[in-house]
Amino acid sequence: MKQTLQLLTLIFFLASIQLFPQVKAGAEALGTQTYDKYDKPEFCGTSCHTDFYQQWKQAMMSQAYTHHWDEIEYFKLAVPHAEKDEKVAEVKAGCNGCHAPIAFLAGDVPPPKPEMNSRANESVSCDLCHTITGFEGDTPYNFNWISSPGNVKYGPRGTGESPEHEIQKSEFIQTAEFCGTCHNEMSPFGVWVKSTHLEWKEGPYSKEGVPCQKCHMTQAESVSADVGNKYPDVWQHLFHGAHDPGKIRGTIELRIHPDIREAEPLEVIRFTVALFNQKTGHKFPTGSVEDRIVWMHVEAVDAAGKVYHLPVDKKGFEGEEYTIGTDVLAYQDMGIALNDPNFKGVQRDGIPVGDRIFRKPYFDPQGRMTIQQWNTASQGVDYRIGPRETKLETCTFTIPADAAPGIMKVTAVLNYQKLVKPVADFLKVPDEEAEIIRVNDHSTYVTVLP
Ligand code: HEC
Ligand code: HEC
Ligand code: HEC
Ligand code: HEC
Repeated sequence: MKQTLQLLTLIFFLASIQLFPQVKAGAEALGTQTYDKYDKPEFCGTSCHTDFYQQWKQAMMSQAYTHHWDEIEYFKLAVPHAEKDEKVAEVKAGCNGCHAPIAFLAGDVPPPKPEMNSRANESVSCDLCHTITGFEGDTPYNFNWISSPGNVKYGPRGTGESPEHEIQKSEFIQTAEFCGTCHNEMSPFGVWVKSTHLEWKEGPYSKEGVPCQKCHMTQAESVSADVGNKYPDVWQHLFHGAHDPGKIRGTIELRIHPDIREAEPLEVIRFTVALFNQKTGHKFPTGSVEDRIVWMHVEAVDAAGKVYHLPVDKKGFEGEEYTIGTDVLAYQDMGIALNDPNFKGVQRDGIPVGDRIFRKPYFDPQGRMTIQQWNTASQGVDYRIGPRETKLETCTFTIPADAAPGIMKVTAVLNYQKLVKPVADFLKVPDEEAEIIRVNDHSTYVTVLP
């Protein structure tokens, strides 16, 4: 009897190895699959899911490998750097875990360049997302999703009939953790260099049960497949973010007011600006925080049309110098990949000196500011605007002696740039990546007495 039991246990054990082959996630999954296990997006999208396919095509996740700036950063900076510096060697393959996941799983790294039109170009594809079954560990980050390609596609409902594949309901695909597997990133130095999901988790939206999908895959009455059922709440594959100016606009609301309404030349007026984050579920900016710059510019125009720039008042917190526009140089560590160890760097901000910047600076192992998130050994003050947070800024302004008497209009503008302009210029990244997007503005009026 005991022997039979042992035998049964052994048989069961052996069978379980067969039935549940060890799943690999994150860096361990490199080279564990083949391309042909994943359906091409065109296959999913040209006869059945045409709307989702077209939505996805114009979102950045369909271009995560092919987009110009991604190509430049990966091939010009990350790969050469990884080949020179043992500490960051892992990123040569690792960038692809999120940007070209199927190439990563196929062990095709570095993948052929985008112009070769290989399957790496599929970027974050339908079948990659819809065959993810969970993630490994406690915290989603560094592509630690588990990929189980095959005939079963995981979705939010588990209903519907498909002539092509089986459909199974997945709770996981509906969670913020699903997105967090790629939207949290830890550098080889153990620093959180991308933390969109972690920011969401500590903010108000997670407590209210509003995951990423509610704002980036909004729901509408439609069909989920051309010949499928109609539902009142179908998840649209919009995935709109930093590359959609309409998503950026209005993210922060601005209100500016003076402490007194009338002043003579050489009198002092203090303006206060309230900046309220009413739109994001995470901080603003989030994601590629090393690249992004958000800054407030305040200007006064007197009755004669003369323009005066109002620099922001310093608050005196530690690391504040990184949050005020300056003309110092930074980003010297680009010199490593570019074979120029004495590279002097480029302008840190490329915005008017004295404007307030809402950012978190990233530092290389030498303590210099960097846009290379993989070379980030530490970070400075986190002066971004959290979800539903309001920040107050002041500008103390002495009415100029020659200001024209009459109404003076004072305007606060909040600007956004995806990539710091001097870096974009230096690396020849197309202009659109450094276009200035006006997030919002507000004006107030004071009277200059004669
Ligand atoms: C970044 C991951 C991701 C990609 C890429 C992606 N999807 Fe989805 N898809 C999701 C998520 C997440 C949901 C469910 C959202 C929820 O329940 O909160 C979903 C839902 C769906 C649904 C069910 C919709 C409904 O309301 O019943 C279909 C069908 C679907 N996706 C097909 C596709 C197709 C086809 C593509 C490629 C053109 C694609 N998906 C690309 C993540 C993705
Ligand atoms: C397999 C990895 C992966 C998963 C899973 C994933 N993303 Fe992404 N996502 C990326 C990458 C890589 C980019 C950057 C694309 C680029 O190069 O600009 C990105 C970009 C985005 C953007 C920015 C678009 C823009 O305009 O700049 C949004 C929004 C986004 N993802 C939302 C989501 C949401 C919501 C989910 C979960 C439903 C999700 N992602 C799941 C990898 C992923
Ligand atoms: C309450 C709505 C809301 C929720 C919830 C939300 N977002 Fe966003 N998200 C926004 C808005 C608005 C923007 C545009 C402003 C910005 O770039 O931050 C944005 C921007 C983004 C961007 C682009 C940032 C950049 O600079 O490239 C990414 C990526 C992103 N969200 C991913 C996520 C992920 C992942 C989650 C869940 C963990 C999530 N979002 C939850 C509203 C939301
Ligand atoms: C853990 C997943 C992950 C890894 C690993 C990763 N990325 Fe990303 N990357 C993302 C996500 C998600 C975004 C989008 C964030 C946002 O919208 O702000 C992004 C954005 C970017 C962008 C900005 C895209 C744009 O158009 O603004 C570049 C460039 C980039 N990554 C390059 C790289 C390189 C090079 C590596 C390797 C050194 C790398 N990434 C590693 C997930 C990852």
